[in-house]
Amino acid sequence: MNALAARRRHPAAIALLLLVGLLVTGAAYAALAPKPAQASTTSAAQVEEGKKLFLANCSSCHGLGAEGTEDGPNLAGVGAAAVDFQVGTGRMPMAAPGVQAPRTERVKFTDEQIAAMAAYVASLAPGPAVPEAEYASGEGGDVARGGELFRVNCAMCHNFAGSGGALTRGKYAPALRDIEGKHIYEAMATGPQSMPVFNDTNISPEGKNDIIAFLHSIDEQENPGGMALGNLGPVSEGLFIWVFGLGIMIGFAVWLGQKSA
Ligand code: HEC
Ligand code: HEC
Repeated sequence: MNALAARRRHPAAIALLLLVGLLVTGAAYAALAPKPAQASTTSAAQVEEGKKLFLANCSSCHGLGAEGTEDGPNLAGVGAAAVDFQVGTGRMPMAAPGVQAPRTERVKFTDEQIAAMAAYVASLAPGPAVPEAEYASGEGGDVARGGELFRVNCAMCHNFAGSGGALTRGKYAPALRDIEGKHIYEAMATGPQSMPVFNDTNISPEGKNDIIAFLHSIDEQENPGGMALGNLGPVSEGLFIWVFGLGIMIGFAVWLGQKSA
């Protein structure tokens, strides 16, 4: 005990104590600090990798510096979210020029490659980031409020049940079935093609999450009344009854008439 007490007064003891204190604080901070958001995890190496992929796969239409050409728009400022949406839904790289770049089944890149190209495009100019899972999964979202927001903001193009609809000049708003929450969020944040952008002032991140919850609730919905008929509403349902229901009744009438004759 005496030896320890003597050492405690040693001039180096304070420095040692400080050092230990700093090390413990540093280690605790590293372990407990919240993980940085998506945007700040992009490294120079990732941007470099993304640039290479971009030059090989996208520059023919979008230009060597993504400045745009006759065949594709300037991508400065579209943000990581636009790249994640366009490439992640198989829209880009576009196979052939057309009025609209539709969703396709062939997503040509891995998640890492998409993230790299997104980081490269985001490094050109600020734009919407890939959303955090908290607001893009629909989990905990208010389905009723989401339905309301959807009917006000989206139904005029996508139909009130999200089954899609035609627009002018051969364009169309696609059906919104079985779409990953992240891509629904990104569509709202970036406004692909003729779709408007819904920024956080138009629809808050919570509201977007509610809309995702609403759309996912439709995916799970069964049709207790039988066939959905595309959920196109009373006109298609009425037409169905007119054509098939009356057709069957007329058929019966003819059949009965023939028998009695
Ligand atoms: C054959 C030409 C072509 C190729 C190749 C191509 N794009 Fe595109 N891209 C277009 C056209 C045309 C548009 C705009 C019209 C549209 O979205 O349909 C577009 C739109 C985009 C948009 C949306 C921009 C916005 O305003 O939201 C992004 C992001 C994008 N491309 C990324 C890419 C990436 C990344 C690649 C490479 C993996 C790529 N594109 C390859 C032609 C191309
Ligand atoms: C002016 C018409 C219009 C409005 C309003 C509109 N959209 Fe769209 N939306 C479109 C068009 C057109 C596309 C197809 C773009 C493409 O193929 O790149 C689209 C694409 C989408 C996609 C991608 C679907 C897929 O198959 O990958 C989602 C998700 C989406 N919209 C959700 C919404 C939501 C949610 C709202 C309301 C907040 C909304 N849209 C409002 C026209 C519209």
